[in-house]
Amino acid sequence: MCGIFGYVGRQSDAAKIVFEGLKRLEYRGYDSWGIAVLNEEGIRASKKVGAIGDLEKDISLPDSFIGIGHTRWATHGGISETNAHPHYSSDKSFALAQNGIVENYADLRRVLLKKGYNFATETDTEVIVRLIEDKAKKSANLKEALRQAFLELKGRNTAILITKNGEIIAARNGSPLVIGIEGSDIYLSSDTLSFAPFAKKMIVVDNGQLVDCSKGRIALYEMKTGQKIKHRFVDINLADNRIDKEGYPHFMLKEIHEGPDAIRQLLERGLKEYLDFARVIKRAKNVYTIASGTTGIAAAQIAFYLRRYPKIKAISLIGADALEYLDLMTADDLIIAPSQSGETADVLEILEIAKKKGVKIASFVNMQGSTMTRMSDYKFMAQAGPEVCVMSTKVFVSQIAWGYLISKITVGKSGEGIKNLHLLSLVMAKYLKSPKNHSALKTLAEKLLSAKDIFLLGKFQNFNIIKEGMVKLIEGTYKHAHAMPAGDLKHYAITLMEEGVPVIFAISEDEAKFDVINAVNEVKARGAYVVGIAPSRHESFDYHLEVPDTSETSAIMNIIPLQLLAYYLTVKLGYNVDKPRNIAKSVTVK
Ligand code: G6P
Repeated sequence: MCGIFGYVGRQSDAAKIVFEGLKRLEYRGYDSWGIAVLNEEGIRASKKVGAIGDLEKDISLPDSFIGIGHTRWATHGGISETNAHPHYSSDKSFALAQNGIVENYADLRRVLLKKGYNFATETDTEVIVRLIEDKAKKSANLKEALRQAFLELKGRNTAILITKNGEIIAARNGSPLVIGIEGSDIYLSSDTLSFAPFAKKMIVVDNGQLVDCSKGRIALYEMKTGQKIKHRFVDINLADNRIDKEGYPHFMLKEIHEGPDAIRQLLERGLKEYLDFARVIKRAKNVYTIASGTTGIAAAQIAFYLRRYPKIKAISLIGADALEYLDLMTADDLIIAPSQSGETADVLEILEIAKKKGVKIASFVNMQGSTMTRMSDYKFMAQAGPEVCVMSTKVFVSQIAWGYLISKITVGKSGEGIKNLHLLSLVMAKYLKSPKNHSALKTLAEKLLSAKDIFLLGKFQNFNIIKEGMVKLIEGTYKHAHAMPAGDLKHYAITLMEEGVPVIFAISEDEAKFDVINAVNEVKARGAYVVGIAPSRHESFDYHLEVPDTSETSAIMNIIPLQLLAYYLTVKLGYNVDKPRNIAKSVTVK
């Protein structure tokens, strides 16, 4: 979580450049933000609580050729201006911003307090600042002090600092850091997307490295030894890096409409890498799909398709809870890790340990230059374009469609898989264009405005779909939503079924349909308000959301009305649909 950005170059409006960068990083947290620049009088920092607002109105900073900034998702210390980054050193000779968690901050703080250092904030970041000050007393320069301090930090951390001598130095040990270059302008950031409009080339800083961008030159160092190392430039290659609502009222609605394109992107690649990967899947002794949050649900659906078509015994795990399986993994196994960011700490930690055991790693990532891609043996890119809304929609569609495709290719039915996805993208686009579908969803959203609990039931290919519907509803509307296997309802949650309780079913024309209809009747008999997402109406539905029957890909189709329902309900409730409270899009802390 948290986004960091830095600029040094020929342009005198560093604060504005950093501000633009931070706006693009806001998905990483929006509890507070701050920028520090340097002019003749020294380092000038300005901070503000809340989401990134207006540069001129909210913070005033002088012209400068160098600056750093931060957008925060609070971990240690409340949401306040004092706790907002960047944090000054005691003598204001440098200011620092951090992304990560210092796991041993309490121990370090105790030692530093004994040495006479004072702390003005409740953050773990200030511990890094004071530790650097302490190391600086016996170091040749600040870069060396930063290096020494980082060697003592536990946890996944990246920090950037600006000094009164016009230096920008950064250290990476866990959270992402990339550098963009365009002529003599240098940009440092948590992701590529933030500087994609300004830079054509980039350098990816690895864990255990330090970078010094002083005086317009980039020098990379090994953190352990302090030795200078070579860096490599990579072309920035973002399929589409525009960040614009393009006439839609919100990014979420725009991105839901981009689902069909995200599917088409998958089909534009050559078959060769998929065929090679299919052989790897077949050879693996065990296949694990691992991810978190919404992507954790996509991972479960990918595993479903691998079991369903090529009959691979795939097991899906949630990043934060995969630890217990690590002992079972061997060099004959394969992990498939989908991820929007490629930086999710819970997943990276598992991948790092598994990799040491020789487990092969495949990833499907939407962000270029990510840690996950670089550590993977088999690298696939979603190329779904930037997803700005914190709630993931089109990337989820891309991930599960990719899972369907690799499963069909693995079972030797590539032609059929490609044809079905192509058809799905057309049908989905048509569904999204129809005003009738949107007005049906808006009417339902109106009906659900006062609901306290919303239940979602599904089975087989639709089980993960209703789970993702639940996630979208919880994230956006702050209502209690509960997804469960339709067949398990009778074993306990049926006690909650009473007059008017909304229960949403996702139903496909498959072998699970009749079991799900049993559950429809059971809840209906107890007075529930039954919503059916299905190709055809059933007499027990109180409200029918008609979806086209796309056979094998119908689960992918069914997520669209659920995403739209969450969207319309959130908007009707008056909440910030693109930035729900408390969550972030990229979670780089454990
Ligand atoms: C956060 C986001 C989710 C996302 C998850 C994993 O929780 O809010 O939308 O699915 O992180 O992120 P990843 O980048 O690995 O997909």
